[in-house]
Amino acid sequence: MASSSPVILSVLVLFIFSLSSSSAQTSFRPKALILPVTKDPSSLQYTTVLNQRTPLVPASVVFDLGGRDLWVDCDRGYVSSTYQSPRCNSAVCTRAGSTSCGQCFSPPRPGCSNNTCGATPDNTVTGTATSGELALDVVSIQSTDGSNPGPVVKIPNLIFVCGSTFLLNGLAKGTVGMAGMGRHNIGLPSQFAAAFSFNRKFAVCLTSGRGVAFFGNGPYVFLPGIPISGLQTTPLLISPVSTASAFSQGEKSSEYFIGVTAIKIVENTVPINPRLLKINSTGFGGTKISTVNPYTVMESSIYKAFTSEFVRQAAARNITRVASVKPFGACFSTQNIGVTRVGYAVPEIQLVLHSKDVVWRIFGANSMVSVRDDVICLGFVDGGVNARTSVVIGGFQLEDNLVEFDLASNRFGFSSTLLGRRTNCANFNFTSTA
Ligand SMILES: *[C@@H]1O[C@H](CO)[C@@H](O)[C@H](O)[C@H]1NC(C)=O
Ligand SMILES: *[C@@H]1O[C@H](CO)[C@@H](O)[C@H](O)[C@H]1NC(C)=O
Ligand SMILES: *[C@@H]1O[C@H](CO)[C@@H](O)[C@H](O)[C@H]1NC(C)=O
Ligand SMILES: *[C@@H]1O[C@H](CO)[C@@H](O)[C@H](O)[C@H]1NC(C)=O
Repeated sequence: MASSSPVILSVLVLFIFSLSSSSAQTSFRPKALILPVTKDPSSLQYTTVLNQRTPLVPASVVFDLGGRDLWVDCDRGYVSSTYQSPRCNSAVCTRAGSTSCGQCFSPPRPGCSNNTCGATPDNTVTGTATSGELALDVVSIQSTDGSNPGPVVKIPNLIFVCGSTFLLNGLAKGTVGMAGMGRHNIGLPSQFAAAFSFNRKFAVCLTSGRGVAFFGNGPYVFLPGIPISGLQTTPLLISPVSTASAFSQGEKSSEYFIGVTAIKIVENTVPINPRLLKINSTGFGGTKISTVNPYTVMESSIYKAFTSEFVRQAAARNITRVASVKPFGACFSTQNIGVTRVGYAVPEIQLVLHSKDVVWRIFGANSMVSVRDDVICLGFVDGGVNARTSVVIGGFQLEDNLVEFDLASNRFGFSSTLLGRRTNCANFNFTSTA
């Protein structure tokens, strides 16, 4: 009896020690998290890196602003001792909106489990979805104070979807899936907020190189010590019908829509059929924001009216039009064009939002794409006559603008170009202070 007590004591000490060390680890509650977001120059997609699995693997994935969830290829190279598949009808399946229950007739491995709920991983670049299974694994991510990365924190059971290798076709080289930032319970912004009880809010600052995404609370500080605040805001709108490649009936879109009510070039309003700017009950029309479209896409009639007004005003400024370079429809010689802090001095484009005072101004740096030394093109493309969404604001127009999505209050905030504030989205200081 007496000889066993030291053993009990040491077990007890060990137990207390491990309790206190684990609580010390979790007692750091981040106020915000960050991810790097890097543009892939060949596909023009934006990618991020999530450290996932045990042992941790840096998984490069396409940053998909409107994507419903995180999905990764589990067919090839997914090795993890902490992989779990939630049981059918469990709370995780309900939270993910999954009602199906799957069997897999191959040896068990990540992506092939029995009695787990099904999901449909979606390649939103190519518009291809397949069937996959819902899964849980650990993800480790950097916290931030808004100025620098801080301590790394862990989310032990991040919900994601297991996809297949063929689904990677069309994605940036080296990526193994897509990180969905859309409005959904299992979208990454909602899961990050739930894991650390911070605001269901995130901000994205894309650039032609490495930009940044913040999750949770601000501030958003860029070198040389410039906090980005005073954003203009407009309501985020919800499209009643999912825009995913596969979805269940009644599912709303996880993408972010805003209410553009008019498009102006300098002071002239582009003539647009107002019906096209509204989202109708079958989910057609309206304006959304997308990081999988490299350039803003406009329904044909809008594109034609917009381009001809821009060309007219460029001509009035003695800007010389030259032959078009695909995929663009209006290109110009740089010869007579001045350069300003906010890019080439071309006619200013304005997206008028819910009120005439709330205007997203687009200057040369976000409207003109350099295609050759002496040629720049209006960086907007024709989406065809049957476009589902009339205006899709794409990556190039977002670069060096900070945009904020507040899911709790349904508001979209935007800074307009940071070049006007003497910084840019590549200026986040990624040197860790942890
Ligand atoms: C699932 O169950 C079926 C039938 O019982 C079995 O043949 C199969 O090997 C199982 N699959 C896995 C991944 O455990
Ligand atoms: C919504 O717009 C689309 C495209 O214009 C049209 O085909 C559809 O009938 C409209 N739906 C309703 C309910 O008006
Ligand atoms: C454009 O060129 C014409 C002819 O050279 C000149 O008269 C006019 O002032 C110029 N306009 C602008 C806006 O530079
Ligand atoms: C970036 O942050 C680190 C850590 O706080 C600091 O030492 C460094 O000076 C910062 N870089 C610049 C360019 O300010």
